[in-house]
Amino acid sequence: MLKRLTFFLLLVMVAWGYEPLIQNISGRTTTSLNGAWNYIVDPYENGYYNYRYRPFDEAEDPSKSGGYFANQKPVNPWDRVEYDFDLSETLEVPGDWNSQREKLFYYEGTIWLKKSFDYNRVSVDNRVFVHFGAANYQTDVYLNGHKLGMHKGGFTPFNYEITNLLKEKDNFLIVKVDNKRKKDEVPTVNTDWWNFGGLTRDVQIVEVPETFIKDYFVQLGKDSKRTIAGYIQLDGVSKSNRKVELLIPELKLRKKLKTDELGRADLSIISKRIKYWSPDNPKLYDVIIKLGSEELHDQIGFRTIQTNGPDILLNGESIFLKGISIHEENPLRGGRAHSMEDARLLLGWAKELGCNYVRLAHYPHNENMVDLADEMGMLVWEENPVYWTISWENVQTYATAQQQLSEVISRDKNRASVIIWSMANETPVSDARMVFLKKLRDFTLKQDDTRLISAALEMHGEGEGGLTRKISDPFADYVDVLSFNQYIGWYDGLPEKCDKIKWAIDQDKPVIISEFGGGALQGLHGDSLTIWTEEFQKYLYRESIEMIQRIPQLRGATPWILVDFHSPRRVLPVIQDGWNRKGLIGSNGEKKQAFYVLQEYYKSLPNPSKNN
Ligand code: GCU
Repeated sequence: MLKRLTFFLLLVMVAWGYEPLIQNISGRTTTSLNGAWNYIVDPYENGYYNYRYRPFDEAEDPSKSGGYFANQKPVNPWDRVEYDFDLSETLEVPGDWNSQREKLFYYEGTIWLKKSFDYNRVSVDNRVFVHFGAANYQTDVYLNGHKLGMHKGGFTPFNYEITNLLKEKDNFLIVKVDNKRKKDEVPTVNTDWWNFGGLTRDVQIVEVPETFIKDYFVQLGKDSKRTIAGYIQLDGVSKSNRKVELLIPELKLRKKLKTDELGRADLSIISKRIKYWSPDNPKLYDVIIKLGSEELHDQIGFRTIQTNGPDILLNGESIFLKGISIHEENPLRGGRAHSMEDARLLLGWAKELGCNYVRLAHYPHNENMVDLADEMGMLVWEENPVYWTISWENVQTYATAQQQLSEVISRDKNRASVIIWSMANETPVSDARMVFLKKLRDFTLKQDDTRLISAALEMHGEGEGGLTRKISDPFADYVDVLSFNQYIGWYDGLPEKCDKIKWAIDQDKPVIISEFGGGALQGLHGDSLTIWTEEFQKYLYRESIEMIQRIPQLRGATPWILVDFHSPRRVLPVIQDGWNRKGLIGSNGEKKQAFYVLQEYYKSLPNPSKNN
């Protein structure tokens, strides 16, 4: 079954024009295509299908088919062309369309975007790729009328080689982005966040040598404090039996390696001088990888992360994860967060809260967040958008889930801050769901066995009034860290109920409360039993913190959520108006009283010993 599935996955990826990711884009020769892109709103996908609903891609001569990707221009007075990108309005890239145009705020469908550009290669022997940080949700990419490929998934990077299609002048890159929610996609149709569509992250041209360092994994080996392990992967016609070097000057390390016939060189280097990366000391080393004249630099931290019974061990020392959940949204600007400035705002608030850890919910965030987390010493939970009622039986749905997980692992595997890969959030228990999640977990461990696996599991109540809570979810046996969302006092009774809860979690594993909390409109005041007031939320936080501390295996929490975020599910006039109000910070950037309750709790916790 697994062999058939793997073969199917490969077929699907090839059909989609899938290209393995280039590691460390920012360390290479890049040209940004960010800025104003012309766009055409196409709800009937008139630019993709003919009137018989056949894709123009399949036409004899697609360049004359009427497909918008052809960017046709009338030549003769009698030529009929019913679109014109250059006369169309523009959108800023990176950026979702919803927050840029009032008329697109609720839009779910296809929008075509076009960027024209000239390009002169630094060297005629070089190869050229186009790289997308992410685009939500399905993206069909064309350069100069030729289809490069199709990508699914709204939160992970993808790239295509364009070496043989590129011209010096007047290239036109046309992208069809379709953010329609669909039952068999990942996520499925129902979520509690805004479906921001578009080219939501950077678009760049990347120029590399004919044979180049495409990928590498450089981290401490699993459970090892002294062995830097991983691999270097080349790409190009002369990738086999090539000499490559890995240098870490500050550790006086210089390792000469030779690639095998597949262009890969495994590495394993012992060093007794490593200063371990940690929240108190986010030490990053300049790591240099060389192939001939190509020299690639990365800033990499080295640390170990393990569990031992109920303890989470960072560099061998037990640590408590003082966290907060975060959606990828800058409420002050509105829309998908994407920039380093957005990352500084969000992680700056988390730092002010007293956090050493963040849960990037419910999908992979932009690369600036994990790069900044590495710099700041913020531990990170990254999450695959396998959320709620996914189509567990659909093989293609699994392929999409695994492809997105492979992309975030590929992108962030060298980031010391990332300690947990989360498989799913609040998914209903079934046999099909167990098969799906176990396959994802096994796949993850094959890609990266140095980090911990978790998921927001199902919890259930027993005994009188269901007040005895335990984790009955069978997937609990397949994760390193037990996590669950609990809303006692909000969706389940009032805050006073917290005091009545008994915990019967019998697994000998660490527990992180991946969500708790409740809503409040910033600036709305009243007594502590009036819902939506800051006082109610403060009372709820006080009671929740008391309650979770009674869990003997408690080793962390990421309350829901740092800041209010847009959601179409939240329609209560005056109070919600399209915002989920569970933030500790309002959509106006102002803190609520509960912010200080959590901050006080985190301050009260013993600081882990300085050496981790
Ligand atoms: C759920 C879910 C979140 C959601 C939250 C809420 O636990 O994981 O995505 O936003 O509850 O109801 O606000």
